[in-house]
Amino acid sequence: MRIGVVGAGTMGSGIAQVAAFHGHQVYLCDMERSSLERAVRNIEKSLGRIVRKMDAPDQDGLSGRTLKLIETGTEREVLAESDFVIEAVFEDFTIKQEVFRQLDRICREGVVLASNTSSISITRLAACTGRPEAVVGMHFMNPVPVMRLVEIIRGLESSDSTLQKTRDLTLNLDKVPVEVKDFPGFVANRVLLPMLNEAMFVVMEGIAEVEAVDQVMKLGMNHPLGPLQLADLIGLDVCLDILNVLFEGYRDSKYRPCPLLQQMVDAGRLGRKSGRGFYEYSDRKDGVNKG
Ligand code: CAA
Repeated sequence: MRIGVVGAGTMGSGIAQVAAFHGHQVYLCDMERSSLERAVRNIEKSLGRIVRKMDAPDQDGLSGRTLKLIETGTEREVLAESDFVIEAVFEDFTIKQEVFRQLDRICREGVVLASNTSSISITRLAACTGRPEAVVGMHFMNPVPVMRLVEIIRGLESSDSTLQKTRDLTLNLDKVPVEVKDFPGFVANRVLLPMLNEAMFVVMEGIAEVEAVDQVMKLGMNHPLGPLQLADLIGLDVCLDILNVLFEGYRDSKYRPCPLLQQMVDAGRLGRKSGRGFYEYSDRKDGVNKG
């Protein structure tokens, strides 16, 4: 299958990698050449980690074949050749709306237009196109090459055939599809974000230090990362956006973003990607808390 991926950030590059690894021809498209170059470097690194622990006789060949299946470019018109398109651009409705309008114009009839959005309404995105039945949510988890879940979001107008094609592709990528309806935060983020937010309130109220909160959840609940480490991994700006979507979508104060989160985003402390969030990151992947 020819798969188009729009947006070469962390999620887009992870999706392109997984699709190519499973033998699909991928066109990874981004407006910024530098993002495409960074994406290819990250894919090479991640593939290296994956093939090293496989029992494959020809590890370099496997990586090379995967990379050869990924074409990168800045021209969205090339997506006309795709059989399935996954959008993974910045989490902003106006930007995604513009992408979906273009995809609707460029892509062939019958092609599924999927969004990797973490919280924007699929029904609203679908309404920007003349083919709302072909629009669906395909929410991968970070890091994409490692996490098995894909949350499949059925918009109000998504057709059964669109859902079936999306489930089939997900299984083909060796991921597990879980179907949910199109309500704010879907399921993953509606359940996860209030926990991360509560951990931030605990820190803001001085009840426990950052490391203590993370230790409680890692050692007490067997979570692989503590909530504040995970918030840094997701990106504090992304956490804030998702909480605002939940807060505005349900008009329920239980989703109000923690003021400390807002303050950190205002200060540019966005987590791992900016080198500083609840922890500081240099070369240490796990980060260090400097308070
Ligand atoms: N590519 C390939 N392999 C990777 C990788 C990547 N990007 N990241 C980690 N790995 C592999 C490592 O090679 C390692 O493999 P082995 O154990 O076989 O050697 C394994 O994963 C574990 O990695 P590490 O030892 O480096 O680190 P870790 O033990 O902390 O595990 C993790 C990494 C699997 C990501 C783990 O920290 C984890 O499960 N974290 C939670 C992730 C999570 O909750 N994601 C969901 C975020 S929410 C979301 O995405 C939705 C949203 O919309 C916000």
